[in-house]
Amino acid sequence: MKVLVTGGAGFVGSHLIERLLEQDCNVVCLDNFSSGKRINLETFKDKITLIEGNILNLEDVQPALEDVEYVYHLAAQISVTQSVRDPLHDASININGFINLLNAILKSSVKRIVYVSTGGAIYGEPPHIPASETTPEEPISPYGLSKLVGEKYLKWYNTTHGLSYAIIRPANIYGPRQDPLGEAGVISIFLGRLLKQKSLEIYGDGFDTRDYVFVKDIAAICTSAMASTENDTYNAGTGDQTSLLDLVEIIGHMTRLPIKKEFKPPRRGDVKNIALDITKAKKILKWNPETSLSEGIQTTWEWFKSTT
Ligand SMILES: NC(=O)c1ccc[n+]([C@@H]2O[C@H](COP(=O)([O-])OP(=O)(O)OC[C@H]3O[C@@H](n4cnc5c(N)ncnc54)[C@H](O)[C@@H]3O)[C@@H](O)[C@H]2O)c1
Repeated sequence: MKVLVTGGAGFVGSHLIERLLEQDCNVVCLDNFSSGKRINLETFKDKITLIEGNILNLEDVQPALEDVEYVYHLAAQISVTQSVRDPLHDASININGFINLLNAILKSSVKRIVYVSTGGAIYGEPPHIPASETTPEEPISPYGLSKLVGEKYLKWYNTTHGLSYAIIRPANIYGPRQDPLGEAGVISIFLGRLLKQKSLEIYGDGFDTRDYVFVKDIAAICTSAMASTENDTYNAGTGDQTSLLDLVEIIGHMTRLPIKKEFKPPRRGDVKNIALDITKAKKILKWNPETSLSEGIQTTWEWFKSTT
């Protein structure tokens, strides 16, 4: 089975490729390395076809789709803060790039697509937590908006052209290979700063909550959603809220390192509280997040120590 992973050199994409290789898939990775890294592909680079290219360029996308049956679309601008600074850039990749891919898919052998959207940013400040897939989408950042528009385009390609799809809305993903120097991924940022004996920067009062889900669990829901034939949308988190202050406690306990907190003003575009109701994914996809927060942070910490 030949599959394309866009954004495969990124944090989540590289774990998804590992899982697909375990399932004996023939994997093509399309990535322009704008945030992805070659080191992420290092252990399996001889087992995949790498196409270094941009989802905005048809001449890069078309060869990547040759004989491909299934597409996982992860390539994206992923920073909420960056999307607030430059909404046009965010929209060009997350909307125009996706439409370019979808147009090329219509002229290809592709049977189904899994689109990795966002659950952390699509609901804005929901009236009830955990938010379910029926909670109104009210994003408060350009990133959340562009991901939502991508979902709507995908549904249009389904109703108009019959393209089979699944949409995954992940909460806050963490795990090995996440960039500790980026603006997204607070667990990696905290662990990276701890290793350098730097303070942990907390935007806001520390009571903001997030739903942290381990990266291998997200790779698992992506392949489960591909195996299903339903055209549907699934939250992917744990249902649990963890505040930044609680996260700092857990990290301090695990690493046994002294922690200095540095409070900063809240960032525009960041939601205050979010967690996702995953009843639907459990029921329809038979998916369950298997990694507890403490196990996941431990694994991530071991990885950071071994690579720094
Ligand atoms: N990390 C999270 O917490 C999280 C949460 C919810 C959803 N997501 C979604 O998961 C997906 C993967 O995120 P990630 O955390 O691995 O981020 P990442 O930045 O590590 O991965 C994105 C990848 O896309 C590539 N890319 C970006 N623009 C491209 C372009 N124009 N052409 C080709 N490749 C391009 C980057 O080089 C990178 O390898 C994204 O769609 C993101 O929106 C991530």
